Amino acid sequence: DKGNHRHFMEKEIHEQPEAISHALGHYVDFLEHAVRPVAGSIDFAKVPSLAISACGTAYLAGLVGKYWFERYARLPVEIDVASEFRYREIPLNPESAALFISQSGETADTLASLRYCKEHGLKIGAVVNTRESSIARESDAVFPILAGPEIGVASTKAFTCQLTVLAALAIGAGKARGTLTAADEKALVRHLAEMPRVMAGVLNTIQPSIEQLARDLSKCKDVLYLGRGTSYPLAMEGALKLKEISYIHAEGYAAGELKHGPIALIDENMPVIVIAPHDRFFEKTVSNMQEVAARGGRIIFITDAKGAAASKLETMATIVLPDVDEVIAPMIYSLPIQLLAYHTAVFMGTDVDQPRNLAKSVTVE
Ligand code: M6R
Repeated sequence: DKGNHRHFMEKEIHEQPEAISHALGHYVDFLEHAVRPVAGSIDFAKVPSLAISACGTAYLAGLVGKYWFERYARLPVEIDVASEFRYREIPLNPESAALFISQSGETADTLASLRYCKEHGLKIGAVVNTRESSIARESDAVFPILAGPEIGVASTKAFTCQLTVLAALAIGAGKARGTLTAADEKALVRHLAEMPRVMAGVLNTIQPSIEQLARDLSKCKDVLYLGRGTSYPLAMEGALKLKEISYIHAEGYAAGELKHGPIALIDENMPVIVIAPHDRFFEKTVSNMQEVAARGGRIIFITDAKGAAASKLETMATIVLPDVDEVIAPMIYSLPIQLLAYHTAVFMGTDVDQPRNLAKSVTVE
């Protein structure tokens, strides 16, 4: 049932504050401002490294997770898309743990990477939406994302719930490894707890500016997304979402890679969507934006009030989000990129919930 929404995707985008509250309740103790000890048989204090593997959007959630595990838990992370991971002959340490992220829990390549790690003796954790799935069954520890059923082929609430669970796990790992103090943990958990409220506020306010922009995007043939730090996987997620449902060609790039190739594409016909909260990477990303502007590129700037004030560049549009801590920025910045893809596809009249050539669950290799 779509309720009063036109598509499941729209409904699922709007369900995110609630879905995330639900997920947070499982991983976080709001009264104590602490993460719950959910790691089960995975001893994050002892593992020398972590392997992560997944496909599509789940892989991009894992890529954000890598930044968190490395930063908060000082745990080196090896990550790859499952279809490469399983064939790369990665020298794996049997003392390590591996996480497999999958909404459906049935993705063939992800399951094959899981089995590969299991054969090599690693402890296996599953970050899944479907607890009764092959990936969950074959894991030592199951970390449910509790997003509720996701019907739209384009993943939305599963992505932000995967991020939420990975953030909580990384904070838990940091606590176990002594790389986060109790005060750090408290502060991070407070930020996580703010998420549902901040998301609801964003969903209530950005719609008009997004619809306006979607009308312009629907006329484009190519779109480039740029980001740095955790905004880099988000740039790739924005591009994936747009191509998946609107069939517009889009690429997500690390902002710093712009001058190593994609800058050659810049002209007034290819909008460049820059995802840049006013964080420790902001100045660097703005200098990449300047390079775009200097070549006549049109910029769609997704930032916060500080970022909007600090950049003096002329943009095609600026979407201003609330000022949030770095740990929740990926979830909050997911909202405009999801809505932008959604409304662009609606303008183009594509089959948003069932895009051509795609299936919700990819059980073939
Ligand atoms: O069920 P899974 O999470 O394992 O699926 C992985 C990908 O097939 C999936 O995320 C795909 O990329 C989505 N359609 C993206 O919106």
